[in-house]
Amino acid sequence: MSFEHKSVLLKETLALLNAGSSNGIYVDATLGLGGHSAEILRALGPDGRLIGIDCDRRNLEQAAAFIRKTPGHERFTPVKGNFRDLDVILADLNISEIDGIIYDLGVSSAHFDDGLRGFSFSKEAPLDMRLDAESALTAADVVNNYRAADLERVIREYGEEYKYRKIADYIIKNRPITTTTQLAGIIANAKRGMKEKINPATKVFQAIRIEVNDELGALKISLEKSLKALNPGGRVVVISFHSLEDRIVKRFFASESTDCVCENKRLECACGHKQSINLLTKKALTPQEEETVLNPRARSAKLRAAEKI
Ligand SMILES: C[S@@+](CC[C@H](N)C(=O)[O-])C[C@H]1O[C@@H](n2cnc3c(N)ncnc32)[C@H](O)[C@@H]1O
Repeated sequence: MSFEHKSVLLKETLALLNAGSSNGIYVDATLGLGGHSAEILRALGPDGRLIGIDCDRRNLEQAAAFIRKTPGHERFTPVKGNFRDLDVILADLNISEIDGIIYDLGVSSAHFDDGLRGFSFSKEAPLDMRLDAESALTAADVVNNYRAADLERVIREYGEEYKYRKIADYIIKNRPITTTTQLAGIIANAKRGMKEKINPATKVFQAIRIEVNDELGALKISLEKSLKALNPGGRVVVISFHSLEDRIVKRFFASESTDCVCENKRLECACGHKQSINLLTKKALTPQEEETVLNPRARSAKLRAAEKI
């Protein structure tokens, strides 16, 4: 099995992570099917170590099986966990400092391909959408139990869907909703007559998935923790797939790469903020056309990277 054409921005990630011939400790915070990890392992020096985290046990097991066939696999440690707990995961492994970390955010192709997980609006499935099948909140809970105001907030903030009020109203009137296709039909009814290039359910499904997995909350917490764990000169590389994620990364990197976070920087600064990183990408990197032809999912990818001071 080859992941060469599947792992997004692979060459760029390897170059920016700077793991080549390194004997340091690296973390793949979103192991997925192991595509990035396998190449990082190949690049590392003889004593370099890689920790691969995923909250989806099935992906973790599949990736671990794949990586067992990769040279250097004995220096790879798979961990079932959420990257929001990065500090605890590293402490459990007796690791106090790392030299690089990569996040390739969101869901994997396996999630959409698995008709039973409920990520795809075109595949009939129960409303689940949990990346971690052991976590509590499901898409059915959000769709059937959230109050109108909360449902509207989720659809507006995480879907950036301006018909949020009407969609929430249609959902509430049609409760209980049990399957993905039923939900997609209700959203399509709420948006009837609107001309859009994408499926009318796309943004709402994204919104519910983000809520179910607290994707943005986990990212914010983990980015903070990653900087605490990195050695000076250590690198953090983040690949995001929608503007909400990219905004978090961009703002975090912007504030950590300056000595001052005051609103008016011309005043004498008293905020006490200290620069902790240098940006390695002034603007986000995006995939070349050759990559998006081979892997359409890469089209919306944005990569940002920074180095700890
Ligand atoms: C886009 S895929 C990664 C693909 C991987 N880089 C590869 O090359 O195969 C994202 C993976 O991150 C996992 N994931 C998403 N959020 C997570 C979180 N907060 N903690 C741990 N894993 C997470 C998902 O389960 C999924 O397997």
